[in-house]
Amino acid sequence: MPLSDSRLDQYVVDGRRAEIQSHVDSLLDTMTLEEKAGQLNQRSVHFVTGTEDEGEELESAVADGEVGSLLNATDLETKRHLQELAVEESRLGIPLLIGFDVIHGYETIFPIPLAQAASWNPDLAERAERIAATEAAAAGHNWTFAPMVDVSRDPRWGRVMEGAGESPVLGSAFARARVRGFQGDDLSDPDTVLACAKHFAAYGAVEGGREYNTVDVSETALRERHLPPFEASVEAGVGSLMNAFNVHERIPASGNESPLNDVLKGEWDFSGVLVSDWASFREQIQHGTAENRRDAARKAIQAGSEIDMASEVVIDELPDLVRDGEVSEDRLDDAVRRVLTVKGLLGLFEDPYRYFDEERRDETMLADKHRQAAREAARESFVLLQNEDDRLPLDPEADVALIGALADSGEDTLGAWSFEGRPEDAITIRDGLEAFLDREVPFTPGYELPGDVTEESIEAAVETATDADVAAAVVGETAEITGEAASRTEIDLPGEQRRLVEALVETDTPVVAVLMNGRPLAIDWLAESVPAILDVWHPGVEGGPAVAETLFGEHVPAGHLPMSFPYSVGQVPLAHDRLPTGRPGDDGESAYATGYIDAPNEPLFAFGHGESYTDFAYTDLTLSTAAIESGETLEATVTVENVGDVAGRDVVQFYVRDLVGSRSRPVKELLDFETVDLDAGETAAVTVTIEDVDLAFWTVDREWAAEPGAFDIMVGHAADDIVHTQRLELLD
Ligand code: NOJ
Repeated sequence: MPLSDSRLDQYVVDGRRAEIQSHVDSLLDTMTLEEKAGQLNQRSVHFVTGTEDEGEELESAVADGEVGSLLNATDLETKRHLQELAVEESRLGIPLLIGFDVIHGYETIFPIPLAQAASWNPDLAERAERIAATEAAAAGHNWTFAPMVDVSRDPRWGRVMEGAGESPVLGSAFARARVRGFQGDDLSDPDTVLACAKHFAAYGAVEGGREYNTVDVSETALRERHLPPFEASVEAGVGSLMNAFNVHERIPASGNESPLNDVLKGEWDFSGVLVSDWASFREQIQHGTAENRRDAARKAIQAGSEIDMASEVVIDELPDLVRDGEVSEDRLDDAVRRVLTVKGLLGLFEDPYRYFDEERRDETMLADKHRQAAREAARESFVLLQNEDDRLPLDPEADVALIGALADSGEDTLGAWSFEGRPEDAITIRDGLEAFLDREVPFTPGYELPGDVTEESIEAAVETATDADVAAAVVGETAEITGEAASRTEIDLPGEQRRLVEALVETDTPVVAVLMNGRPLAIDWLAESVPAILDVWHPGVEGGPAVAETLFGEHVPAGHLPMSFPYSVGQVPLAHDRLPTGRPGDDGESAYATGYIDAPNEPLFAFGHGESYTDFAYTDLTLSTAAIESGETLEATVTVENVGDVAGRDVVQFYVRDLVGSRSRPVKELLDFETVDLDAGETAAVTVTIEDVDLAFWTVDREWAAEPGAFDIMVGHAADDIVHTQRLELLD
């Protein structure tokens, strides 16, 4: 069956699709079972070049056509050499896919993805990925294992830094943008790479936030919360998806036929390629659902997975499985056809060496315009969590003391998952401040990374602060305690950073906090003791200048949280789109209402929260009609005024509540959003279009539908700061 998918076709220039198809078909006709299995075998270069023997073994496997793709190859020469072996030595000369985790930039490291989502500006992410793709492709890669589109509402999970936070709506907008950014206009351009939406599916729901743990979500939660960003990626024409490590319905994702074959390839008609996560085919054995390697290979391929990343069960077992009639050759051909098709789309059959050009690589990396984009992205991602007494922005004439080891750490400025980013290329907050002020800034680390303090370190910090007009305390997480395999059960500032902050607050010098982090933190004590907190996440290679420009008011912060900050880890998981429960406690009177006896239900800083150096006022939320029929659309409009003294950007957030449904519906859900730039005193009308599909959910009939009835359409500054509500009727 030829693959015909118009969504992937948008990345192919006219007429090439048919040509690719016929080339793929003629290859398939001549391939042996071993060569077919080879196309599904992905090997890691990083882990085999440890010894000479291992290196030679990989070389001969590539030359024998037993490898279809690579990951973790870093230097250009190795990539070229292995590609030459595939093209010139293997019998059919099929080029390799060469993949890498390009998560938030290649050498020009952008803010971590969670930070980018805080901009609520998907165009920013598209630009960032365009640049990341240009650099990665110039370094010999043609495939990135990104974007991660897992929705998560558990900040204990270290990987939340890689995603877009808790909302399927915001997550889908960023998923689409990232796919477009990586894949560009034409996948065969030498500056585009194949994207990979991961981890399919529901990896963001690991129990207890514990990495690699079990997932147990209902079909409704899967459909409404976890699948939408994947569907959005498929709609945007993503060329590949990656299996999750976790189980769904107790079946490991790699071998789980229902989401793969029924939803992804059935309902969504996905025609790209599905790669496992690292060794996840084999890990079905550890999960206890496969008896041995042969069983693992059979289950994965039958379920609809294709490429085996690093476990080598497919190359070892699949040819015999087909010969013994346990896997049909048709299924094998379908899998191989998908792999060969993406190779064709990338233009690898025409020129397998298109990604290896030293001159292009040297000109491309860390180009000025890339750094400039990274700086803009960093600025847009900062969230002013609070700013009592307008303590920020700071006066550039004031004597500023800088405290905190994170302010001086290149590695932590970059953040996790920045393999090709070099700490020495990062402009730290310390360097950024000094360059901005054009003078030396008194600095004391105050703690040792990630957070150890001594009496002496605190004393030195207090002394530095005491001599200054204002102290900026840079506190938070190191990159190392965020990202993969970095789940935490405590999500306060690490170590004893709190002691340091408390000592600084005791001085007569006003303190502002700059927070560096890869996840929402439980920092209610910080919010109580420090009036101004600017969250800069792990801001990337241009983080320092961006922080300086924001602290001193040259840039007005406009980021808003993509994920709730809890008071304590005990509230987790929490998100703005929770269900009401039978005892919502709205009357504020009943003791027998949902809640805790020692904490509120609401977060410390809600989803969508973010302050500015100016203020925005909303008037007149209007709906173009109060009632629509199925298939009709309406417009919701609000007037936004910048009522402060400086120009700024507002993120206007529209929420919805379906008042009565066949299933309980969230108290509010993000519906849509718009950013608007306004000068001081300026007013603008902001309009979003609402279709009945925006009101749809996974109904009791197990289908997406908008049920007739009443809906509240809300507009606000954050999920916990709704300003206006209007009632809408969906007619029968
Ligand atoms: C494991 C991670 O879960 C996945 O996201 C990544 O792409 C692979 N390793 C390859 O590095």
